[in-house]
Amino acid sequence: MDNRNRPIGFFDSGVGGLSVLKYALQELPNEDFLFYGDCANVPYGEKTAEEVRDLTISCCDLLYKKGAKALLIACNTATSAAIYAMREKYQMPVISMEPAIKPAILSEKPGKVLVMATPGTLSSQRYARLVQKVGHEQRLISVPCGGLADLLEQGEFNSEEIKSYIRKKVEPYRGQEISGIVIGCTHYSFISDQIQKIAKELLYGACDIYDGMYGTVRHLKNLLFEYNLDKRTPGGNVELFASGEPRHLEIMKKILKYN
Ligand code: DGL
Repeated sequence: MDNRNRPIGFFDSGVGGLSVLKYALQELPNEDFLFYGDCANVPYGEKTAEEVRDLTISCCDLLYKKGAKALLIACNTATSAAIYAMREKYQMPVISMEPAIKPAILSEKPGKVLVMATPGTLSSQRYARLVQKVGHEQRLISVPCGGLADLLEQGEFNSEEIKSYIRKKVEPYRGQEISGIVIGCTHYSFISDQIQKIAKELLYGACDIYDGMYGTVRHLKNLLFEYNLDKRTPGGNVELFASGEPRHLEIMKKILKYN
């Protein structure tokens, strides 16, 4: 098969990466996608880096065996733990995600930046290096959101439980001037509007949202062109895979339709 016509593999610990896939479907309408959610093992954000790396590699092996021409790790936590190993292992473009702190820091607006991500991402060496590279560490406030990915995994994004979770996380910064909020986990992209709404109620400042998925999908698009891997025939297809119980696949299908 012409390499251009092979699918792009997307991976996440669970349903979060579907937020990235939905945007990729708009940007790359001709491409075929394979999406694997490791729903049996989610959340990754509270596991050790070694556990996350091993799980990520075994799931991505499956996408590789299914003929993926490129891999997008639609998970900040898996990126922090496994990206070097993945790039060594696979002879294909491997695109990663990281919290979008750079654009948040570069914004001219006054105030601090809240970085909402999993405990695993925020405590990783990779994140520490990113902070060092971007600079202005004193403007960044880490907000580890343990347990939030688990709540979102059910595919219900508007529940009272989720609203009160966000409120509890934002409350400690009540009255502070916040220029931006970094959505550092792909699960949270589904609730970025709610996060911003609650933040604007409790905080002061622009509370602009910064989500790494847009830059990541643009990067994927550029790499496909660069490696002559962009599909040129019309039409596109998505195949979903989930580890664990069959209900996970049903939730994923529902989310893919959700706007
Ligand atoms: N969606 C993942 C991320 O972007 C992690 C969620 C989890 O498994 O804890 O970090």
